[in-house]
Amino acid sequence: MKNINAAADRFIMGRLMEFEELSSTNEYCKGNDIRTDCIIRAHRQTSGRGRMGRKFVSEEGGLYLSYCYLPPDLKAEKLMPLTGLCAVAVHCAIEKATGLNADIKWTNDLLLYGKKICGILVETVLGEDGKVEKLIIGIGINTNQKSECFEGELENIASSIYALTGKETDETKLLKYLSMLIHGVYSMVCKGDFDRMEEYAEYYRAHCVTIGKEVRILRPELVSAGKDPRGAYAEDPSVFPKAIAVDIDDNFGLIVRHKDGKEEKITFGEISIK
Ligand code: BTN
Repeated sequence: MKNINAAADRFIMGRLMEFEELSSTNEYCKGNDIRTDCIIRAHRQTSGRGRMGRKFVSEEGGLYLSYCYLPPDLKAEKLMPLTGLCAVAVHCAIEKATGLNADIKWTNDLLLYGKKICGILVETVLGEDGKVEKLIIGIGINTNQKSECFEGELENIASSIYALTGKETDETKLLKYLSMLIHGVYSMVCKGDFDRMEEYAEYYRAHCVTIGKEVRILRPELVSAGKDPRGAYAEDPSVFPKAIAVDIDDNFGLIVRHKDGKEEKITFGEISIK
């Protein structure tokens, strides 16, 4: 990626809308009449959201973004590999901007020294014909927050690049790399560029800490309705069966092998690494 500055400046100019505070950048994209592809950034979010309706702590110091696309002709089925592709894009952007080599935990968390430093939440607004009217790629990267932001129940789970390394991340540089890479991923999905997606899947496998590990599949259907599987897991892990994570397929599904030797592809949900 030569001349990142000039190319990315041109790309970002006119697309980026920055706010000191929003409830959630994803919610902003969903709730507003957006007429053109744009990037929404908030310096803090009062109701940052993660997957499965969880809260995403979004204090000052992190990079909170939503890439909002209005695809002219994109069927929802084509989005299957998108979150995995985005995890690769974020991984590359962090590496280019900071020199750090993070780990990817299936499906789309980025970890540094075992702590979560990034989460990705892809959401869509669909038209009646099943076409994607709005595609929202929400990314939260814990860059420069102090360690106090991750006290209490988050202490063993999440942290920031600054708290873990003592180094400040140049967020402008990170935003530039990330925006170019996310746009590349979006184009890849729209065009159905499977060769390129295969390369990304290969990169994902090389950085995925889940492969080869014993995991528990946190199936929502094994807990009572409305209960967070992660909470149920903390109370009683035996509810969830163990399996070995053996591979990632080209759609970023996780292939697991059960005790009886049968393999299964997990496409949605969450796992806990033993
Ligand atoms: C997860 O960890 O489950 C996903 C977290 C996604 C957080 C980002 S921050 C920017 C965007 N706005 C939100 O409310 N969520 C996403």
